[in-house]
Amino acid sequence: METSDIFDIKMPSAFQLAAFESVDSTNDELRRRALDGAPAGTVVCALEQTKGRGRRGRTWVSERGNLFCSILQRPAVSLAEASKISFVSALAIHDAILEAVDGFDCDVKCKWPNDVLVDGYKVSGILLESQALQGQNMLDWLIIGIGINLHHSPADTPYPSGYINAYRDQALSQAQMLELLLKHFAQWFERWQSLGFQAIREAWLHRAKGIGTEIAVNLSNEKLIGTFETLDQDGALVLQTSEGKRVITAGDVFFER
Ligand code: BTN
Repeated sequence: METSDIFDIKMPSAFQLAAFESVDSTNDELRRRALDGAPAGTVVCALEQTKGRGRRGRTWVSERGNLFCSILQRPAVSLAEASKISFVSALAIHDAILEAVDGFDCDVKCKWPNDVLVDGYKVSGILLESQALQGQNMLDWLIIGIGINLHHSPADTPYPSGYINAYRDQALSQAQMLELLLKHFAQWFERWQSLGFQAIREAWLHRAKGIGTEIAVNLSNEKLIGTFETLDQDGALVLQTSEGKRVITAGDVFFER
């Protein structure tokens, strides 16, 4: 079996890594650890997932070569506030990818709610899962599951997908990508804690694709067309349609190509 350098990674001090050849889902493995009392900063990473999961009940194709990891955090905030950490994470992924493709002429953008695109192709997705403290509205634990396409892009995805190493001369390993990701995650998480969501919202808007343009948004039972006005204070997408303003909390965005 091919070996990988994720087993030899030197982790930044805020994180502790549990690395696996194969797991069902790094989110599921980290959930078991969170329920057992694992501390904030625990990271699970695997070379493959047998039951990788995506947003909205989808499967996340998880063959060897790409990065699959999950990060545990336990900030003392409400569940609603914790859900905005998806934007903190998207910024970290965006900036890590920008560093990874440094020198290449390509366009790295955030796509609502929390994907990252390179030249319009999805290269990363985030799956957030959380649990409240018993009988309270406060967060107990939050798992940030991150998939980054490094070596290949799965076929037949709902949104056209790409991969990072297509934008590099020398292939980046999972360990190198994870190191970049955790470095940027620690910086953005710290900014969120010290400056709050407003600073995150502004940074995200600067990196977002499609602000002010016409987009389509597929909801579970409806398809909307309108102008992508902004991201609101709660992280919802504000869409101006011909029938008025809509504030969208869950959906899939498609741009004019
Ligand atoms: C999306 O649908 O865009 C989100 C995809 C999230 C995939 C990652 S891979 C690591 C972690 N483990 C999972 O099962 N899912 C997330």
